[in-house]
Amino acid sequence: MNKIIVANWKMNPQSKKEAEVLFNSISKGIKNIKNSQIIICPPFPFLSVFGNNKSKKIFLGAQNVSIENEGSHTGEVSASMIFSMKGKYAIVGHSECRSSGETNKTVNTKILNLIRNKISPIVCVGEKDRDHDGNYLSFIEDQIRECLNGVSKTQIKNLIIAYEPVWAIGKNATREATKEEFIEMKIFIKKVISDLYDSKIAHSIPILYGGSVNSLNAKSFAIEGGADGLLVGRDSLNPKKFEAILNALK
Ligand code: PGA
Repeated sequence: MNKIIVANWKMNPQSKKEAEVLFNSISKGIKNIKNSQIIICPPFPFLSVFGNNKSKKIFLGAQNVSIENEGSHTGEVSASMIFSMKGKYAIVGHSECRSSGETNKTVNTKILNLIRNKISPIVCVGEKDRDHDGNYLSFIEDQIRECLNGVSKTQIKNLIIAYEPVWAIGKNATREATKEEFIEMKIFIKKVISDLYDSKIAHSIPILYGGSVNSLNAKSFAIEGGADGLLVGRDSLNPKKFEAILNALK
């Protein structure tokens, strides 16, 4: 099965020129990759630069979207703007956005806006810490239930879930997650979706892993751990490292 590999560039790189160089090196590097679908999520201003790329393997995604649809909302970007820039996906609920005030309710509004505008939401969920009593499981369950409020059975078919434990993300990660931890979480997320919808839908929704993904652990999560794909931050900014992740999944 094709793996979905999301490149989350975050607030990088700093110029259009550098973004083009990065995008072109990634496109070149993936010529021989057959079993992955790549979604590049550059910062908003660069979406328009890559909208007309001809690659059949690379799709474009945004890193966020407004809860509003139009009007007097300074600095906001609507789902229809992303669609008109040929964005097919958008990340919502990333822990870095949640840490600056995004709630499950706003993620929910964003998901509904995106789906209405024919953009597939990549919904990030993940706990800040793990406790021995397993309270992190109910935390994840609440995130999913509240984020999917009002999303119909037909609408949810376009949705991707990315499990990103906050403690394993970025330079401040306390440690790497293990494939066993991912497997447990994947089963749990599928159960929550199955309770909310049905088992067929739970089976079909892709569940990605994200958090310090690199070429050494990619196979462990995506092949041995059964992740339907990976969400890559830092290592998506280095074409060689990104290519090595894709090669590890061959
Ligand atoms: P990282 O970022 O790969 O740099 O840990 C992942 C993410 O935040 O999505």
